[in-house]
Amino acid sequence: MRALITGITGQDGSYLTELLLAHGYEVHGLVRRTSTLERSRLQHLYADPDLYNRRLFLHYCDLEDTTTLRRILLRVAPDELYHFAGQSHVGLSFEIAESTVESIAMGTLRLLEILRDLAAPPRLFHAASSEVFGRPLQVPQTELTPMAPVNPYGAAKAFAAQMVRIYREKHGLFLVNGFLYNHESPRRGENFVTRKICRAAAAIHLGQQDQLTLGDTSAQRDWGDARDYVRGMWLSLRHETPGDYVFATGRLHSVQQFVEAAFAVVGLDWRQYLRRDERLLRGQEPAQLVGDASLAEQVLGWKPERDLSSLVRWMVEADLAELAKRPLRR
Ligand code: GDD
Repeated sequence: MRALITGITGQDGSYLTELLLAHGYEVHGLVRRTSTLERSRLQHLYADPDLYNRRLFLHYCDLEDTTTLRRILLRVAPDELYHFAGQSHVGLSFEIAESTVESIAMGTLRLLEILRDLAAPPRLFHAASSEVFGRPLQVPQTELTPMAPVNPYGAAKAFAAQMVRIYREKHGLFLVNGFLYNHESPRRGENFVTRKICRAAAAIHLGQQDQLTLGDTSAQRDWGDARDYVRGMWLSLRHETPGDYVFATGRLHSVQQFVEAAFAVVGLDWRQYLRRDERLLRGQEPAQLVGDASLAEQVLGWKPERDLSSLVRWMVEADLAELAKRPLRR
C-alpha cells in the first residue's frame, strides 16, 4: 500500500506516518518549501537511512501549485491520500482570514478537482474539524448535526467538508470527512492551549519560567490523544464504503481543569502561576463542542483508548524531558 500525506510535518502527519510505516506502507509526504525538516516532528524518521528514500519519501509542493500537485499524484499513484495541510490555528484565523480560507477551502477544492480527473483516484481522508459545528443546535454533535461555524477557520473547514460530500456524490469518489475534535500530544504546536499549559508546568517546575498566561480558562473542549485519532483516520479508509465520521471522546473538560491536571503532575499549586491576558480572548467562542463517535465505533470499531489524565501526564513528562535537554534559560 502506498499513501500520500499533505501536511506530513504536523502532529497528525507524523503520527500517521509512524502508523502507516508500521503497517508496511510506503509513505509519501508533501512538504512546503518553507518547512524545516531539521528538528521537525519527522526528524527521527527522516534521519533513518533504512526509511528515508526507501519507504518514506518527501516532495516539495505548496497546495496552490496545482501543476506540481497533479504531477506528484500521477507519479506516486497513492492508494490513500490523507489531507491535513492548511492554517490550523482558530484564533489566528481572525487575523489572517484570507490566507486561512485560501489554504483550507481552496486548497481542498483544488485537490478534489485533480482527483476527479485521475484514472485511478486514491481514497481521500479529509481532516475536517469540530469547529464546523461552532454553536451547535445539538449536544453532543454527530455527523448529521448542521454546521454553524463561528470563525473563519470553521467556515473554511465547513466549505471543504461540504465539497468533499458533493464530490463524493457527484463523482463517485471514495472520500471521507473526519470531524476531528481536539486531539493532543507532545508534538502539538506550542501556541495551542494544551501544549502551552504542559510546557509551562514543566518549565516552571524546572525553574525556567515564572508564570503561565492564558485567555479564557472557562472554555471547554473534548480533548483526546492524537495517536487514537490517526488510527481512526486509517480505519476509515480501510472500510468498504466511504462516509463521514465524528472522532471524539464524548467528554468535555475546561481549560481550567486541564491546567489543574498539568500542574498536579509536577506537584505545583497553579494559583501561584496562572495569569489572565484579555488579548488572548477570542470573543467568538464555540459552545459545547463535544462529539458523539458512536458511528465510528459501530462501523469502524473505533474507540479512543487513552483518557485525559494519561494524556496530560504524557505531555508534561515529555516537556520535562525536552526542557531538561534544551532549557529555556539557565
Ligand atoms: N491557543 C490558546 N492559547 N487557546 C487558549 C488560550 C491561550 O493562551 N487561553 C485559553 N484558550 C482557549 C481557546 O480560547 C479555546 O477555547 C481553547 O483554549 C482551545 O484552544 P486551542 O488549543 O487553540 O484549540 P482550538 O480548539 O481552538 O482548535 C484546535 O482544535 C480544533 C478541533 O480539533 C485546532 O487544532 C484546530 O485546528 C482543530 O480543528
